[in-house]
Amino acid sequence: MLRDLSPRPGDLDPIETASRDEIAALQRRRMAETLRHAYANVPHYRRAFDAAGVHPDDFRDLPDLARFPFTTKADLRASYPFGMFAVPREQVARIHASSGTTGKPTVVGYTQADLHVWAEVMARSIRAGGGRPGMRVHVAYGYGLFTGGLGAHYGAERLGCTVIPMSGGQTERQVQLIQDFAPEIIMVTPSYMLALLDGFRAAGVDPRGTSLLAGIFGAEPWTNAMRAEIERDFDMHAVDIYGLSEVMGPGVANECVETKDGLHVWEDHFYPEVIDLETGAVLPDGVAGELVFTSLTKQATPVIRYRTRDLTRLLPGTARAMRRMEKVTGRSDDMLIVRGVNVFPTQIEELVLERDELSGHYQIELARTGRMDEMLIRVEARPEGFGATDAGPALALAVKERVGVSARVEVLPPGGIERSLGKARRVIDRRPKGGI
Ligand code: DLL
Repeated sequence: MLRDLSPRPGDLDPIETASRDEIAALQRRRMAETLRHAYANVPHYRRAFDAAGVHPDDFRDLPDLARFPFTTKADLRASYPFGMFAVPREQVARIHASSGTTGKPTVVGYTQADLHVWAEVMARSIRAGGGRPGMRVHVAYGYGLFTGGLGAHYGAERLGCTVIPMSGGQTERQVQLIQDFAPEIIMVTPSYMLALLDGFRAAGVDPRGTSLLAGIFGAEPWTNAMRAEIERDFDMHAVDIYGLSEVMGPGVANECVETKDGLHVWEDHFYPEVIDLETGAVLPDGVAGELVFTSLTKQATPVIRYRTRDLTRLLPGTARAMRRMEKVTGRSDDMLIVRGVNVFPTQIEELVLERDELSGHYQIELARTGRMDEMLIRVEARPEGFGATDAGPALALAVKERVGVSARVEVLPPGGIERSLGKARRVIDRRPKGGI
């Protein structure tokens, strides 16, 4: 039985239970300020607004935002390193950067006030995930330029928790310290949580017997099937946390432990829109498309209509007044086109985890022989499942029937797939670039 970690009346920030009208009024005011601030202080925004023929004074109400231009990762890169700062550099208290597998990283800055807001929204996120003052929080997101570790760290401190700043890696040591320090909350990527699961098993320790009550998992897409897996294996709650460096870091949206029905966007600081990928038109709530964010309070690097590439849809609030975003299916750049069929790694993950013999460690390899795309799914058996003969063909059949592509499946013994310390690498694309 999982512990009831629902908040009690009085635990929440007033805005979490505000009316939609109150939220919209706050957003209107903050949005107008942000547009003015960006236009006045960042050459890129001044140029982009002028080119689009809009001025911050044209903004009267929230739908007017649609008249303003989008911002892309390429825009941020073009201003590398500090060109997007809207305050003098001396007022920037911290810098983070996203790894950027190709080309230059994108750099973001935070004033002291920005760091304060970030810690507040992270504290709110951890509380939504079941954390309470006085609890111990084991942070296994990487510390450094990546926003995961430090973001989680300051949020947990702000909430009044005892932080264990473990960072990523050293799996054996993590397993030992989880037993010794007895944290109630763990914050880590879902894929590294599975590596910790291996670590517990290798150490002969029952992962269901730890002190952990809840895990707050994000930084990469993961499915409800993976949630069920982690909750069963660790006998703990698993909730989703979302964020991106360009908008702040982790803590843009978080799931509530009492409902686990998608992530509440902290709309008092981040204004979400979902747009049509092709046309850029704003879509009504409930319709899936690309998520776009405008920061409402950021001083150092405000972002206006930043295209995240993440695919989701907006839904009404439930456990909180703020709207929810559905679990992210994937990034538009991660969508694989295999023989003309669109495939997301998360679709494969769901099918893998339907089979009891298979674990959540998987990788998709794409190659091309002649003119044909070949998809190979490499997946690890569970320790007790290796040798089960029909897992591979059964998965191949499910992928063919439900996703619509033929794939080869290779079932590997436990440990056969490389572990990541942070975000998992799910896809290896060996196809030649540039079409057939
Ligand atoms: O991954 C921030 C973060 C750290 C979020 C720790 C949650 C926990 P970036 O490295 O800039 O920042 O990567 C941002 O990661 O655009 C998504 O594609 C993906 N992502 C983040 N959280 C989720 C999630 C951090 N919960 C990019 N589900 C985003 C799916 C996620 N994808």
